[in-house]
Order: sequence, then structure tokens, then C-alpha cells
Amino acid sequence: MASLLILGAEIVTPAGVEPKDILIENEKISRIENPGSLSSFKADEIVNAQGLTLMPGVIDPQVHFREPGNTHKEDLESGSRAAAAGGVTAFLDMPNTNPPATTAQALREKIALAKTKCHVDFGFFVGATPDNLEELLAAKEACGIKIFMGSSTGTLLVSQRPDLEKIFAKGHKLIAVHAEDDNMIKANREAMGDKATLMDHPFIRSPEAALKATTLAVELAKKNNRRLHVLHLTTEEEVRFLEKEKVQGLISAEVCPQHFLLQFPEDYERLGTYAQMNPPIREARHGKALWQALKDGIIECTATDHAPHTREEKAKGYPSAPAGMPGVETLLPVMLNRVNQGLCSLSDLVRWMCEGPARLYGMVGKGKIEVGYDADLVLVDMKLERKVQNGHLQTKVNWSPYDGRTLKGWPIMTLVRGRFVYRDGKFNEPGWGKPIQFDPAWEKIPHK
Ligand code: DOR
Repeated sequence: MASLLILGAEIVTPAGVEPKDILIENEKISRIENPGSLSSFKADEIVNAQGLTLMPGVIDPQVHFREPGNTHKEDLESGSRAAAAGGVTAFLDMPNTNPPATTAQALREKIALAKTKCHVDFGFFVGATPDNLEELLAAKEACGIKIFMGSSTGTLLVSQRPDLEKIFAKGHKLIAVHAEDDNMIKANREAMGDKATLMDHPFIRSPEAALKATTLAVELAKKNNRRLHVLHLTTEEEVRFLEKEKVQGLISAEVCPQHFLLQFPEDYERLGTYAQMNPPIREARHGKALWQALKDGIIECTATDHAPHTREEKAKGYPSAPAGMPGVETLLPVMLNRVNQGLCSLSDLVRWMCEGPARLYGMVGKGKIEVGYDADLVLVDMKLERKVQNGHLQTKVNWSPYDGRTLKGWPIMTLVRGRFVYRDGKFNEPGWGKPIQFDPAWEKIPHK
């Protein structure tokens, strides 16, 4: 395997930013030295990265790449290409495909397919149903068990307490919950009847419904000493609850940038059903609380919930239009833009977007610029300003809720295990992506 030298970039670690030279050999970071120290090394390729910033590759721990079954929206190739363009070097894919990934066999098939199609590294969730406990226990390769406590896209749903009790009680794998109480949502929907419009969406899928499900999941995690990750938190109420009740190392939470970058009612008025997702975009007070919780460490990581639906599907109007929006490609640019706005630091980004997901899921060799770690890296131009534009994206659906926004700070080269998968607008052949390795010892909690 060729060696690669990256000279003079500003390297981002949780401790700060400083210029370093980096040598990559055999897919791993082999040396990190002060500028100039490696200039006589005879590498197969040398990249002069002066003026650029080098971060660990971003890890997106929640995407829906739609394969199998809904590949008109996205597939593993197009989704992972969008990831590469966005500086995302590893992703965790959700099980609400068609058929859903609810068996060990389905998971193995997905992994085999991903090996041939993915540009970046990957992991897959196994989906819980009320009666597939044996499969959940058999799905050793899964990065975790996904439970939809409230129904969303697809057929997966475990909404009844006795079924949830059984899943939490058996096995060790991390449980990731889509926490919305299905009964409350149904009751709210029935109460509204035919009168419901898109503007009712965040109230049908109410903050109370989110808090109720999160409260139950936390109770079950504590009772069973079971590792729990609360996906895409959306309410101030859940933040306050987790601030009090979260057990460090046992329970963690994530936020999607759209939940603090978009808000009700303005973005519903502007975007129509393109703003519709589950759990919903809410009023400004929730967004503010989520951002602050991320800064305070109550929320440990970001994710996109990249959930592409075609423009034709979105045009069906409320309530027929499917919920969800793409995001894997714009995750890093929207966050780099916030760094340029002075709202957070590059080191914050590394903690939330790289180290955080790697630590929370027990990924081996990911999330850090450190000797011996996988050379999953993204070179960023912090000065580059570019407009997000529908029709100019890699995701199959080719639209973004950020269409028309000019963002400052963009990834320009992405490396996965030492190989450029994206460079100056061009992509490598698909098939370089590999399964992420998860540390088996990590399943023993608590993990700090
Ligand atoms: O809005 C959403 N869309 N939320 C989900 O939980 C699922 C996702 C999808 O797969 O479309």
C-alpha cells in the first residue's frame, strides 16, 4: 500500500489546532510531526496542504440509505458518495429498508452488498420488532439495535411496554431509540381529524410524546443496566430531563443540525413538506436548548438522520408526503459555517462529529488523528464560500433544506483509510468502504 505525506495542514484535535505533517502508511496514520520534520521522507505521494485544515473524518451515526427496497430515493453507492463529498468517512445505516433489516441474515446481506458499493466505511443497525428477540441476539455484526417507539417511515414499530421490556432485558448491544410515544401521537392525530395541516405536525408529534418515550427508554436502560442512545433529540423538555437523569457511560444522546438550524413556523412556511420530518422541527426555544445542550455535553454527538425522499413524493402534500430530509452531504459544511460564525470551535466539531460517535459506539481506530488510527481524514478549506444548491448534490434526491444558503468552510478532500475517496469534486471507484470494527469488550458497561 502506498505511503502518503500531508504537509503543513492545521491539524484539529480536541486540545486545539496546530500545524503538523502527517505520514500515512498501510491505511493508518503512522507519524505526526512538527512541520518540516518529514520533508525528506520519500513518500509515494505528497500533498501540500498549507492553508488547509485537517480533521478526522466525520462519522454520521444515523443515515437511511434505503437499500434494499427504496433505491429510487438513495442506494448505498449514492448515499456513501454523498457522504464522501461531505467529509463523512463512516456511517451507521438504519434498518427501515424494504424489507426491513430485522434478521441476522438480512444484516449479513446488507454488509456483503455494502462491501461492493460503498465509498466510505459502514455499520448497520438491526431493527427490533415485537417478536424478533432471537434475531436481535443473533445479529452479532450489528452496530446496535434500533427501536422505533413511534412509527415513522416503514413498518418498524415497538410501542408497547412489555415488548420493550423484553428487548431491554436480554443481550448487551447498544439500543438506539427513536423516542416518540406512538399512542400519544395517534391520539393527537385523531383529535385533529381531517382538519390537520402541515402546521400541526410538530404538535401532533408533540414535545410530550417525545418526552414520554425518552423517559420510558431511560427507565428501562437504568433498570437493566443497558446501554441506551437516544437518537435525534428535539425538545427542551428532554434536554432538562436528561440533564438530571442521564447516567454517564450508560445513556447518551444526539442532535441533528436541522433541529437547531431550522424552526417552526418560519421554515414550514418556506419549505412546506420539505421541512416535515420525525421527530419534527420545532419552535426556536427547542433549537436553542439543543444547541446549548451540545455545548454543555448533555448531548454528546451530532447525526443527520439523512432520510431522502424524492421531490415527487414530497410534493404529495400533508399528510401523504413522507417525513424526512437529506443531510449527510451538508452536515460538515453547516457546522464549519457555525465555526466561521464564531459559535463554536473546530475542536468542538471533532468532539461532536468524530470522537463522539466513535466512542459512543465503540468503533475501533476511528474518530481521532492519532498514530495507529485509521487514516480517515478530511481536508477542509475554512475560507471557501459556496452556496448549497438543489440539483448540485450527490444524493439521488438532489435537494437540500439548505438550498440557497451560502456556507463558509467546505471539505475539499476526503480520505478513507489513506485513500482519497473524494478530491476536488471527483470520486474514486466505489467499493473501498469496509465494515467498521466494533470493540467486543466495549459491550461491557459502563464506558466512559
Ligand atoms: O423523518 C424521518 N424520516 N424520521 C424517521 O425516523 C425515519 C426517516 C425516514 O426513514 O424517512
